[in-house]
Amino acid sequence: MIIHAKEPVLEVHDLTVSYSRKPVLWGIDFTLPSGCIAGVVGPNGAGKSTLLKTIMGLIPPSSGYVKLFGHPLEEVRHRVSYVPQRESVDWDFPVSVLDVVLMGRYGKMGLLRNPDRQDKAMAMDCLDKMGMSAFAKRQISQLSGGQQQRVFLARALAQEADIYFMDEPFAGVDAATEQAIITLLRDMAAANKTIIVVHHDLQSARDYFDWIILLNMRLVAGGPTGEVFTDEMIQQAYGGRLNLLAQVGDMMEKRAFPTREP
Ligand SMILES: Nc1ncnc2c1ncn2[C@@H]1O[C@H](COP(=O)(O)OP(=O)(O)O)[C@@H](O)[C@H]1O
Ligand SMILES: [Mg+2]
Repeated sequence: MIIHAKEPVLEVHDLTVSYSRKPVLWGIDFTLPSGCIAGVVGPNGAGKSTLLKTIMGLIPPSSGYVKLFGHPLEEVRHRVSYVPQRESVDWDFPVSVLDVVLMGRYGKMGLLRNPDRQDKAMAMDCLDKMGMSAFAKRQISQLSGGQQQRVFLARALAQEADIYFMDEPFAGVDAATEQAIITLLRDMAAANKTIIVVHHDLQSARDYFDWIILLNMRLVAGGPTGEVFTDEMIQQAYGGRLNLLAQVGDMMEKRAFPTREP
């Protein structure tokens, strides 16, 4: 079930992506409107990260194309921000939290100019929004995973992009941080930014996202959450795995609370 956006800011057309000639995404076709928070949802190995990497031009598709604001990525790169899945980034080298956020400004200021007071104030403001300004001078490697994640989101904010791709931004963050992030994303969407979030919790997906891309190698459903995020579609995307999980859940429940015959 696919419902298309009227004036799409993102258009993914017939995208097929392979690793060493083995396709992991097949004929993916969807659009997104501006000012929405879209969730990319699907089981492990569904190709969610691959989809984002392909949109960001990091993996060449074997067929199909992607358009952002009606253009290929190269023409609008400065309007696009990407926060990779955290475990894929090695932050072991010595760089301060403020420097990491300032990296988000390079697209705006060019690599040759040094950051000025305005850039720094802007970077501090973004850290503040993520509740991380007190850590500005710390080395990024000294922070916890959840704190690092907030810094990467601050860096994305500093880019002042129009469309944001975030791969599992809630992985390893506490519930309070998750709420803070989702509130921030809502503010951004209200300011007509478009945010695409890879997420794997089905329960909260329904509350967080106004648009859903349900993926399992193929596009199972895409469109407004209320219309496409149905039990039937979820079942299709998760197939047997969800059944299995439900059975395991039942089993554990029975073990924890055995029913006694009177
Ligand atoms: N660099 C790679 N080389 C080969 N196969 C890969 C590579 N990255 C991912 N895959 C495979 O592609 C499929 C989709 O992976 P991925 O996009 O990371 O899924 P998800 O993010 O939904 O968990 C998986 O089967 C995974 O094993
Ligand atoms: Mg992934």
